[in-house]
Amino acid sequence: MKIGFIGAGKVGTSFGLFLNKKGIDISGFSSRKYSSAEYSAGLTNSKAYRDKKDLIKDSDIIFITTNDDCIKKVADEISSSDLILDKKVICHMSGALDSTIFIKLKEKGATTASLHPMYSFSNVEQSSKQLHNANFSLEGNGEYLEKITRLLEKTSINFQQIETDKKTLYHASACIASNYLVSLLNTSVDMLKYVGFDEKKALSMLKPLVIQTINDIFEFGPQDALTGPISRGDVDTVYRHLEKLKKTDNKNWMEIYQLLGLRTLDMTKNKGKIDENILNKLERELK
Ligand SMILES: NC(=O)c1ccc[n+]([C@@H]2O[C@H](COP(=O)([O-])OP(=O)(O)OC[C@H]3O[C@@H](n4cnc5c(N)ncnc54)[C@H](OP(=O)(O)O)[C@@H]3O)[C@@H](O)[C@H]2O)c1
Repeated sequence: MKIGFIGAGKVGTSFGLFLNKKGIDISGFSSRKYSSAEYSAGLTNSKAYRDKKDLIKDSDIIFITTNDDCIKKVADEISSSDLILDKKVICHMSGALDSTIFIKLKEKGATTASLHPMYSFSNVEQSSKQLHNANFSLEGNGEYLEKITRLLEKTSINFQQIETDKKTLYHASACIASNYLVSLLNTSVDMLKYVGFDEKKALSMLKPLVIQTINDIFEFGPQDALTGPISRGDVDTVYRHLEKLKKTDNKNWMEIYQLLGLRTLDMTKNKGKIDENILNKLERELK
């Protein structure tokens, strides 16, 4: 089984290198710039293709690893060509898109899929060495989808199959965990700056607290990792926070505090340790 890549960027090259080190036969790379294809082919003992049609002919599974905005354009070029796609598996690696973007390829007989690694790729060498720790989600359908599952099993990649119509929500969840965590911590830093800390000091103050919290989440689960005034039922503390937040005139801080406060209250309710009267008072304060 031969694997080809269209788009010799960070993900295509890292994944190609990972597979190559696991003994998988890489046919090669085709890319917008031939020099990019040459570089990635050099790293993976494979071939640089000037014409993606030749790469497709030589490959059983083709990963389209261009940036998201170009995936459809590349797919449309392939579907409008004279290539026979019956036994080909064509797969992209975007989290935001699902395999329905390949509808025309499917109509031409290809098995279409998306395989998303929940992992951040910044450096090719490092990412290819770390990929065994990543978790992938596979979505798609077609007669030859098992070519991908076999590839993943053979290379001991952790993966889970998800339904096509769930893919976007899956990606939104990853955005909350990663991007919004950054925005949330940035809000916390802004508030510390407001009370007089500089950014460096604010970050060093938060670091042990945040790292401990994250460790607890992964060790004990989110429910048991929860601490703080809402989980203790300290209504006065929440009231005083809200009063001071109102006086800052920063609507964002107030909204974040209230919205996530209500989510925290749901978790506290589920724990069942706080009196219902107190939970109701907290809810009134946060709404
Ligand atoms: N980066 C991440 O952390 C990450 C994580 C999970 C999933 N993904 C997904 O992985 C995919 C690739 O992302 P990336 O980070 O690897 O992007 P990237 O580093 O920007 O690489 C994309 C490559 O696509 C090539 N390209 C662009 N348009 C093309 C076209 N029309 N035909 C052929 N090649 C073309 C470019 O090649 P040239 O160099 O030749 O111009 C570029 O090197 C995306 O779908 C992304 O959503 C990324």
